[in-house]
Amino acid sequence: MIIGSNLIFYENLSSTNSVAALLLKDKEIEEGTVVYTDFQTAGRGQTGNRWESEPGKNLLFSVILCPSSIDPEDQFLLSMAVSLGICDFIDRYIPGSKIKWPNDIYFKDGKISGILIENSIMGENIESTVAGIGLNINQEMFAGHILNPVSLRLITGREYDRVICLKQLLTDLDVRYKQLLYGDRETLTSEYIARLYRFKEWCTYRSGDIIFTGRILNVTSSGRLQIGKKKGKVMEFSFKEIDFIL
Ligand code: BTN
Repeated sequence: MIIGSNLIFYENLSSTNSVAALLLKDKEIEEGTVVYTDFQTAGRGQTGNRWESEPGKNLLFSVILCPSSIDPEDQFLLSMAVSLGICDFIDRYIPGSKIKWPNDIYFKDGKISGILIENSIMGENIESTVAGIGLNINQEMFAGHILNPVSLRLITGREYDRVICLKQLLTDLDVRYKQLLYGDRETLTSEYIARLYRFKEWCTYRSGDIIFTGRILNVTSSGRLQIGKKKGKVMEFSFKEIDFIL
């Protein structure tokens, strides 16, 4: 086992990603080390957002990785592997989770998990990666400003043992990480694409001031989203260049 070989728990901290980054400065830290907590005072989301989570209800952790065999231009593979690992875990309890590009995990139209991957690139190599994961497990009420939140408990009506969930999730992430390192990257990519939220469904998107109808056709190796328009034109977007509307 790489992921979960070493577990470090803090009752509370600022952000598991920030603490993991500090630990990385100590070069002795083992690949696969997991920093986890019951509460973050400054949980970070993508695009500078905050990640909020009720104390002691959910999974909040970061995994330290050293994926030196992955070229920086292929770094999106890490997002794919982590996203699929989380879906594999959710499949243990309820089938049908989806990946909202690039790496939000959805159940129906609700967000159950968010991922914040921070890579440190030195020249031609990814020197280290901190993969932060927030997964809503037992939380039942969310602040009004959080968009479409959902938890495993809200979906299934059951309460979960978070220690068991963490162990299972780390096992599932480990399998996907090994698939990325030693297995078939094409299979990983095609499984990721097959799991995409609204894959090949006609939907409304916004890019800048333009609103258009299109459908997701593919994600490139660098993680760009390809959307086909009604007249057949295919457009490509990177993260932040496009929003899902309906
Ligand atoms: C997002 O969807 O915006 C990404 C959210 C990532 C949240 C997790 S919680 C554990 C780790 N520590 C952080 O500060 N953020 C990530």
